[in-house]
Amino acid sequence: MHEDPHAVFGWLAARGPVHRVRVPVFDKECWLVVGHAEARAALLDDRLRNDIRHSADWTDDGGYAVGHNMLQSDPPQHTRLRRLVSAEFTARRVAAMRPRVRQLVDELLDALPATGPADLVESLALPLPMAVICELMGVPESDRADFRSWSSEVVAPTSAEAAGAAAGALSGYFAELIARRRAEGGEDLLSALVRSNTADAAAEERLSDEELLGMAFLLLVAGHETTVNLIGGGLLELLRRPAQLAALRADAGLLENAVEEMLRHVSPVQTSSFRFAAEPVTVAGREIPAGASVLVGLAAAARAASVAPRPDEFDVRRPPEQSRAHLAFGHGAHFCLGAPLARLETAIALGSLLERRPRVRLDPDRPVTWRPSAIMLRGPATLPVRFD
Ligand code: HEM
Repeated sequence: MHEDPHAVFGWLAARGPVHRVRVPVFDKECWLVVGHAEARAALLDDRLRNDIRHSADWTDDGGYAVGHNMLQSDPPQHTRLRRLVSAEFTARRVAAMRPRVRQLVDELLDALPATGPADLVESLALPLPMAVICELMGVPESDRADFRSWSSEVVAPTSAEAAGAAAGALSGYFAELIARRRAEGGEDLLSALVRSNTADAAAEERLSDEELLGMAFLLLVAGHETTVNLIGGGLLELLRRPAQLAALRADAGLLENAVEEMLRHVSPVQTSSFRFAAEPVTVAGREIPAGASVLVGLAAAARAASVAPRPDEFDVRRPPEQSRAHLAFGHGAHFCLGAPLARLETAIALGSLLERRPRVRLDPDRPVTWRPSAIMLRGPATLPVRFD
């Protein structure tokens, strides 16, 4: 799983569209849907709920360590929470961020050494999405290193205990940041959300303390822990295939499709978040009992030959209807809110890197290493390159 999850997903998919599995690190038993059609259907199935209170394992509010957020809620709460922030992430609002994203990428590329060695995760894939979401939310630069280490432990846990401690630290950090915004005010998104957390806010715009914490947590963590894996993992696939790299360098018109192919091939969020069966649900002839936990295998579904022939091949010239047939951003009501932003950041990072460092290549002397992963997220921890 760690070295080559697609081989495992492929092996499972060849044996059926749905399986009972045990999730590593948390040692949790659940159902994993790996068929493409079944995955799409599961993401639209309103009997499979996001609210953990539908889980048979749910006993207390342990699942709320970092507040209750839109990804862990169902309508009508989900609808209200999503509506509060969706205007910030529309394609138009995100297009307006282009100059700032380009400037950030330029600054990061300026700081790279002339010939290498360099690590493209540390110098580009990580700091870019981190800076973008922290600026949007108003996280000061001095806090970002701490924030980064807690966040990383929460989404790529080294143990259940360490993840719990990091969630506690993050929760404390957000509470403090929120208190600062409440006292000082500000123009960032977090300050706007703090203004919704008052008795004067209209009912449909009101955020409880717990929801405010959950929103800050979700946006900040989802805003960078995912995109780092797309930029890092996608660049790795390209750098492994010099002919693909050359095709892209020769035709910048392929850039957008290359990002989709990266999403399809890498699928950096490998599974959905947990769904919980509110009643028994039959998927492909197998009955998932009420209270069971379900993961939708987004990475597995993306490699279905039924939607993209030769699914394991990475090809930036694939017809767009194939490269876009992935479920990398999910599907249905919880479809990724940040998809336009993630696409923009990745396209600019990739385009600028190839333009300014056309000789970029993998460093033959230093291996790529991978982040620890409990199954949901996957991406390289280091991506060593040279530019000579
Ligand atoms: C390559 C980058 C990204 C990938 C692959 C990705 C993937 C996903 C996926 C698969 C979901 C749905 C999960 C589920 O249904 O269980 C999701 C939801 C979400 N994503 Fe992203 N994401 C990315 C970047 C971002 C960014 C930059 C943001 C910025 C704020 C963001 C914010 C969110 C939010 C708020 C949700 C929850 C939406 C809801 O519950 O309605 N994501 N993302």
